[in-house]
Amino acid sequence: MNATDVIEAFAIPSWNGPVSEEDRARALAALEDGRVVMIPGLEFRLHEAEYPLLDGGALDNSRKNVSYDPRTGKCGGSGHSGPELERLTVMMDRYASTADHLVRMLFPSYAPHLEVARTSFRPAEISGRVYSPRHDDRRLHVDAFPTRPTAGRRILRVFNNAAPDGTLRRWRVGEPFADFAAAFLPRVRGMFPGQSLAMSLLGLTKGRRTRYDQYMLGLHDAGKLDAGYQKTAPQADVVFPAGTTWMCYTDQVLHAALAGRCAFEQTFHLPVAAMATPEKSPIKVLERLSGRRLA
Ligand code: SIN
Ligand code: FE
Repeated sequence: MNATDVIEAFAIPSWNGPVSEEDRARALAALEDGRVVMIPGLEFRLHEAEYPLLDGGALDNSRKNVSYDPRTGKCGGSGHSGPELERLTVMMDRYASTADHLVRMLFPSYAPHLEVARTSFRPAEISGRVYSPRHDDRRLHVDAFPTRPTAGRRILRVFNNAAPDGTLRRWRVGEPFADFAAAFLPRVRGMFPGQSLAMSLLGLTKGRRTRYDQYMLGLHDAGKLDAGYQKTAPQADVVFPAGTTWMCYTDQVLHAALAGRCAFEQTFHLPVAAMATPEKSPIKVLERLSGRRLA
């Protein structure tokens, strides 16, 4: 595999476009096929006064990311307070609305169905840190979160490399989801009876964990924990220079973030029915493989 198999590049001169109808169609097909839509040179500009917010001081001790909820206007995980926290919140909100505008411009058919989720700012250098294998996003994985079931809804993420010193963000992208899922699904455990209800009543999950969520978590863990797979699975190295914007369905694209600092990310959820090709969604793939309904 090489980068050209997994990346679809677009020349879009500004956050307001213009975007041609051909590019819209090509972007939609690439995204739903499980490729990464990349827009070189589409830069998220920072203001002078925001530079001091970019170093490690933006984080409270234990956290990797600052997280922002555009629905409440609240920032979490930062070490800042007072005017700095205010400035950080404004910066996060600007990224959230910029990414939102871009997604609606590129994928107008998604617009009425998009659910805006969290914004993150990732100031810390990824390489050279210590992670437990399950939390190590430098290993190939699909995104799935133990506390946040999606019940099959898609996870669409819009990234920007905003490193002021030009640090590259390096990813590795893996094989098609269906190939990965076929290899790992037989190893994944289901839930025990009553588990989903119990977890939700105990506040361990936000809403009910479905069979789909359980399988996705299992795939996430099994893939990361298989050192042989990490080493020998088909994969391509991809580089995102500073000033690049990219997006993909991270519940479908096997990805690993190897190095880089100062990235922004906005998450959206989308119901499968709003896709042009719902049959390509992970839930439909897993339902075909397992022969049962998963949510
Ligand atoms: C991830 O989703 O695994 C991390 C992506 C990144 O921070 O570049
Ligand atoms: Fe991830």
